Amino acid sequence: MSSHGPAAPMTAHRAGPLTGTAHVPGDKSISHRSLILGAMAVGETCVTGLLEGQDVLDTAKAMRAFGADVARDADGTWRVHGVGVGGFSEPEDVIDCGNSGTGVRLIMGCMATTPISATFTGDASLRSRPMGRITDPIALFGAQSHGRKGGRLPMTIVGAAAPVPVRYVTPMPSAQVKSAVLLAGLNAPGQTVVIEKEATRDHSERMLAGFGAVVTTEDTDEGRVITLTGQPELKPQTIVVPRDPSSAAFPVCAALITEGSDVLIPNIGLNPTRAGLFATLREMGADLTYENERTEGGEPVADLRARFSDSMQGIEVPPERAPSMIDEYPILSVVAALSTGKTVMRGVKELRVKESDRIDAMARGLEACGVTIEEDEDTFIVHGMGAGGVPGGATAAARLDHRIAMSFLCLGMAAQKPVTVDDAGPIATSFPIFVPLMRELGARLEDEAAR
Ligand code: S3P
Repeated sequence: MSSHGPAAPMTAHRAGPLTGTAHVPGDKSISHRSLILGAMAVGETCVTGLLEGQDVLDTAKAMRAFGADVARDADGTWRVHGVGVGGFSEPEDVIDCGNSGTGVRLIMGCMATTPISATFTGDASLRSRPMGRITDPIALFGAQSHGRKGGRLPMTIVGAAAPVPVRYVTPMPSAQVKSAVLLAGLNAPGQTVVIEKEATRDHSERMLAGFGAVVTTEDTDEGRVITLTGQPELKPQTIVVPRDPSSAAFPVCAALITEGSDVLIPNIGLNPTRAGLFATLREMGADLTYENERTEGGEPVADLRARFSDSMQGIEVPPERAPSMIDEYPILSVVAALSTGKTVMRGVKELRVKESDRIDAMARGLEACGVTIEEDEDTFIVHGMGAGGVPGGATAAARLDHRIAMSFLCLGMAAQKPVTVDDAGPIATSFPIFVPLMRELGARLEDEAAR
């Protein structure tokens, strides 16, 4: 069974200012897709800037189990020798995706139209997350699934021997679901169509096109219609992974709330399907600027500069913006607590099925730190206490969720009394250098086990 070892409590003390340059790691979404699409191409895909977090390492291991050759050079370049669309072999053992919903869901999709079986599992967080959102559409291709009650892992997928193409309207805004269907569609004949009512991150579409698949996107009255022509030969690529805006969010927000701070975060991907947090922060009055704006590898990129902002105001976050900042609500709720007035986040029920129930995790931890919140199934409201106004002095449960752990450590950097997270271990899934990077900027993070 997957686990990351004994809990590693950590405390953040008010310190600062945070100053300097923060080079955050590669984008997690693009890193998973680089390995998966590389494994489905014929020949050698070369990836630099890959996020070497546990989630992505688990995907690399899975791709090896399906027959691809995945290796890392001493200089950090990753080489993937793919086996071609439909070329996966049956894994000899259970595929353990650790903490990663993106990993397991995309991999289930990409093997669902090959006549092999695979059994998937993960850590306690992943084993509690719903997989019906993947097993429903892959059943339409002809795949079968056998999991635990409620569509939970461990689960065996039996890939379709004679897959048919599918037209699928995603029932919730989810790039993982869209991507799983497109990846399954790769080994089905004819055209697979995915329709999403709200646009979600489009890395799969962009990267599939980069690998030589025929994929088109059209905005219609029905929503965004993505059409993929099946059974292409994917051509290996050279990929430079941009730095992750969802990881950049932490040093950006820490700088905005910590007195005297001025931090530069270079080379951040600002794909519009990912940049909702930064727009929201600017509307709240954050001193956040984009420098050196440019295009790299077809994606908009900029250097972000974040300075302490003592007069941020709460806002109503437009619900239609949720998919472009879905992973950023936990850290936004920390910024909201240190702003003036109410921040209202609606249309956020997907947060309840992330690595943890993120509304509940943030609500309980913020309350323990003296912040007033309101919540219902689909809404989260934080009553701001102004810059420096949060009492802190509590321990928050990380619940095996990297973003919850990092959010509360950022809160501790600006709260009046220290904030402890009961386990900082999960941070390694997406941002393994978070602690040294934040310390280098001036944060005071104490490892409780070392005391
Ligand atoms: C991701 C999609 C999002 C996001 C996750 C990464 C992806 O999940 O929360 O961190 O890479 O496709 P959903 O598709 O469930 O919204």
